Amino acid sequence: MTLSTKSFEIFCGTGGVGKTTLATARALNLSQNGKRVLLITIDPARRLKDLLGLQGDAVGEVTEVELLGSKLHALLMSPEKTIQRMAKKYNTPDLANNRIVQILSKPYGGMNEILSMVEVQMQFDSGSYDVVVLDTPPGAHFLDFLESLGKIRSFFDQNFIEIFSYLGQKTAKAGKKVFGMGIINRFISTGVRKLLGYLQNVTGAEFIDDFIQAIQIIYQSRDAFLKGLSLQDRLKSRSECNWFLVTSVEQGKAQEAVELRSHASHFIHEDHYLVLNKCLEQELKSWNPDESHLIQVKASLEGKEQLLKKKLNEVFPVVLEFPEVISLSPTDHIQHLTERWKSYAPQG
Ligand SMILES: Nc1ncnc2c1ncn2[C@@H]1O[C@H](COP(=O)(O)OP(=O)(O)OP(=O)(O)O)[C@@H](O)[C@H]1O
Ligand SMILES: [Mg+2]
Repeated sequence: MTLSTKSFEIFCGTGGVGKTTLATARALNLSQNGKRVLLITIDPARRLKDLLGLQGDAVGEVTEVELLGSKLHALLMSPEKTIQRMAKKYNTPDLANNRIVQILSKPYGGMNEILSMVEVQMQFDSGSYDVVVLDTPPGAHFLDFLESLGKIRSFFDQNFIEIFSYLGQKTAKAGKKVFGMGIINRFISTGVRKLLGYLQNVTGAEFIDDFIQAIQIIYQSRDAFLKGLSLQDRLKSRSECNWFLVTSVEQGKAQEAVELRSHASHFIHEDHYLVLNKCLEQELKSWNPDESHLIQVKASLEGKEQLLKKKLNEVFPVVLEFPEVISLSPTDHIQHLTERWKSYAPQG
């Protein structure tokens, strides 16, 4: 079994199955094969931070790391840093300065997923990498990440954006800094108007002005956001993206993988790989217990795993097996799993 390298590789799956470890090992394997690799994690748990020794300022910046004697570029997503990069690249400094945008782009501020897509696209556009390997958050969060692409489109489809844009032009012409409530009143219902007025009063700050400005600024940066949409097609394409749906031999995890795939079937193309992690087969083969109850334990473990593999092979087009690494050290896990990736590397 060999795997061809594509421009994007996505690791997804439910919690704790080994996505981050396998993605890191894969990135390492590709870089050992001479590929220019960027490993991006949008996993809020940030296990990679410890694995790669990335601290403080390195979060949100592409950093060259050395792992097990190989060099690799890695990026731990930070939405705030992405906003700053967008502001710079698209020359829209207000994007980084507006208070509402700042709140939205905090981790868990609501723009995390959209900004991840924009970041992936910006990094790929830099032309510095042959492959971008993406480590995603567990289960349902991963679906949010994919669905963010649709959200970008619907946000910019809204007619109300045009209204805010119009308001902005009016105030710019009048040379005023503050947006007039008079114009807003014409467009919005009494209920909403009451609410806005109330917010204006209780915040004491220029909340409404900041809000309108935030919408305008985001709209001005729409090219950057919409570029994320072109990524959607690339990720869906067989020739551009390898999808690795990760699961492990633990109880119930495989069923979760089947369910996750059916939820995401409109994103994951047909040539995806199921990665079965933490297999015990090899270890069990070399284990020869004398005591009868241990012989039973061995037979039971082997039987369970064989049954699981048989079932998965019926449901998934390709199943890649990775062993349980008998060690407590995450670095050992990566090292052994990188070795395993070698056996799936393309020939020549
Ligand atoms: N093949 C393996 N053998 C032994 N331990 C492993 C193996 N793969 C991963 N691990 C260990 O399992 C733990 C969970 O792995 P990892 O963080 O990669 O999972 P994850 O799917 O990214 O988790 P999360 O859903 O929290 O992001 C880590 O301690 C990792 O070192
Ligand atoms: Mg993880």
